[in-house]
Amino acid sequence: MAIRLGDIAPDFTATTTQGPVTFHQWIGNSWCVLFSHPKDFTPVCTTELGETARLKPEFDKRNVKVIGLSVDPADSHSRWAQDIKETQGHALNFPVIADADRKVSGLYDMIHPNANDTLTVRSVFIIDPNKKVRLILTYPASTGRNFDEVLRVIDSLQLTDKHSVATPVNWKQGGDVIIVPSLSDEDAKKKFPGGWKPVKPYLRIVPQPK
Ligand code: BEZ
Repeated sequence: MAIRLGDIAPDFTATTTQGPVTFHQWIGNSWCVLFSHPKDFTPVCTTELGETARLKPEFDKRNVKVIGLSVDPADSHSRWAQDIKETQGHALNFPVIADADRKVSGLYDMIHPNANDTLTVRSVFIIDPNKKVRLILTYPASTGRNFDEVLRVIDSLQLTDKHSVATPVNWKQGGDVIIVPSLSDEDAKKKFPGGWKPVKPYLRIVPQPK
């Protein structure tokens, strides 16, 4: 069955470059980004893993654990890690699942047979501390992902979980936000005593809450 937003992320145990992982236990009270890449020793994947390693402090700041996956075995991941360090200037600093038996990629529907019947597509799952799936992205093998966008969505999710707001198109940290339509004007006055810009009754703009 396909995984949908709001579902509990399937739990699993797997071998990774940092030893065995029991997924839910490993996530603990953190957020998680689980992402798959098609294959070790491929150019786009090499740049993606290097960039994710570079961004580790940004993920840490947001209480997010990152875990990669491909269908290659752990010894291949480890040999490839040396290339990632050499070519991207950042050593792998997060676990990568060795999913040679395709157990996890099957659970998360990461193999799309009409694209490629053996390799995983570029999937991204953002999972919250309650283990709920909060974002699903699927990119083709030939397109490297934008990990600034992954961080942007995490910022939006963490902000909107705390306040009665949603984030508009192209929103970035610090930008104006929208009061959720489910909040009446009366209740909005209590939550946003500084008022809002009433573009339309359903489009009420406020500065980003702290
Ligand atoms: C890559 O990571 O470069 C890649 C992997 C599979 C197909 C095409 C590109």
